[in-house]
Amino acid sequence: MITDRLRLDGRSVIVSGAGGGGIGTSCARALAEAGAVVVAVDRDQDRLDALDLPGETVLVRADIGTAEGVAEVVAAAPGVLHGLVNVVGGSLLPHWAPALDFAREQWDASLDLNLHHVMFLSQAVARRMVDQESGGSIATIASTGGVVAAPYHVAYGTAKAAVLGLTRTLAVEWGQYGIRVNAVAAGSITTPRATSTVQDPGLAGRGVPMRRRGTPEDVAAAVLFLVSDLSAYTTGAVLPVDGGALQRLGLFDDDNVPVHVTNPQILARIRGTDG
Ligand SMILES: NC(=O)c1ccc[n+]([C@@H]2O[C@H](COP(=O)([O-])OP(=O)(O)OC[C@H]3O[C@@H](n4cnc5c(N)ncnc54)[C@H](O)[C@@H]3O)[C@@H](O)[C@H]2O)c1
Repeated sequence: MITDRLRLDGRSVIVSGAGGGGIGTSCARALAEAGAVVVAVDRDQDRLDALDLPGETVLVRADIGTAEGVAEVVAAAPGVLHGLVNVVGGSLLPHWAPALDFAREQWDASLDLNLHHVMFLSQAVARRMVDQESGGSIATIASTGGVVAAPYHVAYGTAKAAVLGLTRTLAVEWGQYGIRVNAVAAGSITTPRATSTVQDPGLAGRGVPMRRRGTPEDVAAAVLFLVSDLSAYTTGAVLPVDGGALQRLGLFDDDNVPVHVTNPQILARIRGTDG
């Protein structure tokens, strides 16, 4: 049955940033429910301790921004290492600023948080998959802000755009080893950290065709597809999980009417009031 391809029984999958109680935690749970041995990684011990996942789980406290942390994480994965989900990333308050004023220190911090570890953890995982001659699957949580502009959030948007470029290049280089590399372009997702930027949940669905924010489970479902053999012939892809937000230009208002259309006859036809 094709649904058997969803199962990951006994296969190790590393999830970086699994302890945040948001996207990483939901991905770890979904993979564990599919039978994977989840290697849950976080640099925050309290967040790791708070994890409650089904099945066999390996908890690793490590900083994946360091070579030692990366080596420790890959060594901790038991059996056949099948997958990696790069979740570590995000945005801190000082990362919001006009590009004219953006500080070099914050630029470096944002690229460190969102980009560099994706390359070097993926590289270490792929080296092991090549040694195992097993193939495997890598999925990275990027953002809609890496697909289109990220105004006043220039370092984050640039880092997430770079993650998409990295995804495409690794997919092409590593296809010969049966290693697939894909990304999720997540839209606005309700997580413990994101609530600090989205203060009014009532406004959060604005501009989103599906008229709501996403949940960590929405992202985890896409990740489960990408990590599992259901997506066996998909690599180098960027899968939007954004309620359709990327498909809609900003020049449409909340009712999907182009903001520049003022012709009363067109407005009447759109609204069905033209008799
Ligand atoms: N929430 C959203 O709306 C949204 C939208 C698009 C993309 N994303 C992306 O989703 C991902 C997860 O977002 P979230 O809000 O769930 O994150 P989060 O901050 O809740 O979780 C990230 C976890 O990573 C850990 N971490 C950070 N640096 C680390 C390091 N060097 N080594 C090991 N662990 C480290 C943190 O301790 C934290 O527990 C990020 O990449 C973010 O950019 C989020």
